[in-house]
Amino acid sequence: MRKPLSTSLITAALVAAGVLLPVGPAAATPTDTLATDTLASATLASAAERSGRYFGAGVQGYKLADPVYTGILDREFAVVTPENEMKLDATEPQQGRFTFGPADRIVDHAVRQGKRVRGHTLLWHPGQPSWLVNLQGAALRQAMLNHVTQVAAYYRGRVFAWDVVNEAFADGTSGARRDSNFQRTGDDWIEAAFRAARAADPGAKLCYNDYNIENWAHAKTQAVHRMVRDFRARGVPIDCVGLQSHFTANHPVPADFATTIRNFAALGVDVQLTELDIEGSGATQAENYRRAVTACLAVSRCTGITVWGIRDSDSWRASGTPLLFDSTGAKKPAYTAVLNALDGGPCP
Ligand code: G3I
Repeated sequence: MRKPLSTSLITAALVAAGVLLPVGPAAATPTDTLATDTLASATLASAAERSGRYFGAGVQGYKLADPVYTGILDREFAVVTPENEMKLDATEPQQGRFTFGPADRIVDHAVRQGKRVRGHTLLWHPGQPSWLVNLQGAALRQAMLNHVTQVAAYYRGRVFAWDVVNEAFADGTSGARRDSNFQRTGDDWIEAAFRAARAADPGAKLCYNDYNIENWAHAKTQAVHRMVRDFRARGVPIDCVGLQSHFTANHPVPADFATTIRNFAALGVDVQLTELDIEGSGATQAENYRRAVTACLAVSRCTGITVWGIRDSDSWRASGTPLLFDSTGAKKPAYTAVLNALDGGPCP
């Protein structure tokens, strides 16, 4: 029977393979007895994996032709979310005619690279094709639920989590639902969407996804929490809440971010940071990223983090330089802060 390799030999092999990077004065050698917790991970994905989490990125399919973009994606990220290619206008441009080519390009790449896919998003009020906007009442409700069913069924087994409904609550202090054609079909449209998604793909985690629900004191956060609590109490199939986590100078990482994550997790759902980006630069931006990642790491059911793009130039708000890589693809201080936070290490 083969004698099992010692930990230090395995560690040395991982270091030699570039999977783990040594921290401290000397690289590991077979005679050193380095405990693995003194070794930093080499990538965001491997660092997150060490705490049982994923680290992912929002992806734009047409950019997969860019070797710098795809090189970073394949090296650093374990999960991809199509930024636009699975949205309503992209997947059902005419009623009953489904087009999955652009999304499949991303999904196929992810599968080839051994990555998982988050689906984004089955129902979202902006970006609706004109045929859907022009419907109302029972016809609209039937079309909405058919869309959920057809798209979720098509990706059954290839998407591990869906943003079933995106941004259904109003900003501000009302705590009310956002007015939309979907909402005008009746309050129960969100749970109907979740039930349809579960029926179409019983294996996918079903998420409600929204922005500005990161601060526990905010009315919108409280309203979403009440909905999820009600859904869980009534057996509506919901498995996760997506906190988009778009932060700016005016909407910074809240001091009570971990409290918010913990309070959603306490409802019995996973929490995912689904669209993390933080406007800024240098050490201040790095510190904000460290705080956001640390808040997720503080709660075991915060199961993963997705940054909303790869390079600053790929961002929906590129002028805010909100991501971990600059426009040339070089790592920024924010990258190092995230890697160190995931590794439980020092801030830069
Ligand atoms: O594909 C067309 C292209 O053919 C056309 O030439 C070009 C100029 O009109 O537009 C292109 O479509 C754009 C699309 O991104 C793809 O680049 C749309 O105009 C543009 O509105 C769309 O913006 C996306 C936005 O959602 C609206 O769907 C952003 O990339 C995307 O990052 C952003 O992401 C959202 C999340 O889905 C939900 N949470 C908020 C987040 C930021 O708004």
